[in-house]
Amino acid sequence: MNSQQLYFYTVFMKKQLHPVKRRKLVILGTGGTIAGKAAHASDNIGYTAAQVGIDQLLAAIPALAASGLIISEQVSQIDSKDMSFDVWARLAARVRHFLADDDVQGIVITHGTDTLEETAFFLQLTCQPAKPVVLTCAMRPATALVPDGPQNVMDAVAVARHPEACGVVAVCAGTVHSAMDVQKVHPYRLDAFSSGDACPVGYVEEGKLRLLRNWPVPQAGIACEAIEKVATWPRVEIVMNYAGASALTVQALVDQGVRGLVVACTGNGTIHEDLQAGLLSAQAAGVRVVRSTRCPDGRILPLPGNTIADSQGLSPVKARIALMLDLITEDQRPSAAGQT
Ligand code: SIN
Repeated sequence: MNSQQLYFYTVFMKKQLHPVKRRKLVILGTGGTIAGKAAHASDNIGYTAAQVGIDQLLAAIPALAASGLIISEQVSQIDSKDMSFDVWARLAARVRHFLADDDVQGIVITHGTDTLEETAFFLQLTCQPAKPVVLTCAMRPATALVPDGPQNVMDAVAVARHPEACGVVAVCAGTVHSAMDVQKVHPYRLDAFSSGDACPVGYVEEGKLRLLRNWPVPQAGIACEAIEKVATWPRVEIVMNYAGASALTVQALVDQGVRGLVVACTGNGTIHEDLQAGLLSAQAAGVRVVRSTRCPDGRILPLPGNTIADSQGLSPVKARIALMLDLITEDQRPSAAGQT
């Protein structure tokens, strides 16, 4: 049995052992447009995010009453553009706490759309849940004439209640995306997310899940116990390749002690020769450098002679998180601890 088969077998056995007990659903509020307020119901964009508390938000969805026992908790109340490592660490701790409770069937997290894909990926890597963790959101504030948040929450709950669901997914506009693939692709439309080439995990149609492919699977060896110590997280930044790119930003970041750099490359991982020279000397000086692509779809295909690793299909923002966690894991190794 390979590790993926073993994982699905373990999930299956756990579900056999606890078939009816897992009835509690936890909904964690973090802010976002879904909790936003505008002065006028007709205003879908001139609002302030993160104004409505999670209890009030859920109370405005009477249909939730039929969804079984729901526990809610406000973990943060922020516009997700301001997402911080502190909030991520706190959220991961609460997710782990509730996942460890045998009576909890799954978790729904209300979140802003702007950095949802980063939080989803971070939670997938750090919590590696065998139960569903479903992030949902809205593109219109809670005060809108026709808000999209309530339907998104109902759909997220339907996914979290699905007996086979596991891993971190995002639900928006009736579409279920894996944390590994999800990306915000539109600044205004209600259906603002895409899974790119990978296609969605499924669709929620009238409260029923139509599954298209496998749930996200934990990545072996990435789970990280050290994320509570936020102050020790290594600095990893993103630089971009573009016409006229130079090594100036890279040099400034190296001077400030950056530990890792992700390059949002052009095309199939290409980098302007001046920027590339800066990156190669940063790499020679011990900075971890990873190439991702600016292209929204597809992944970098390796070529002989590539001297900078590629992100294995991860977008720049996700490659940054993966590199950060990798460095945290590296710092935990006894040899690294012995050196400090
Ligand atoms: C946010 O990301 O918190 C604001 C924008 C949104 O949720 O659509």
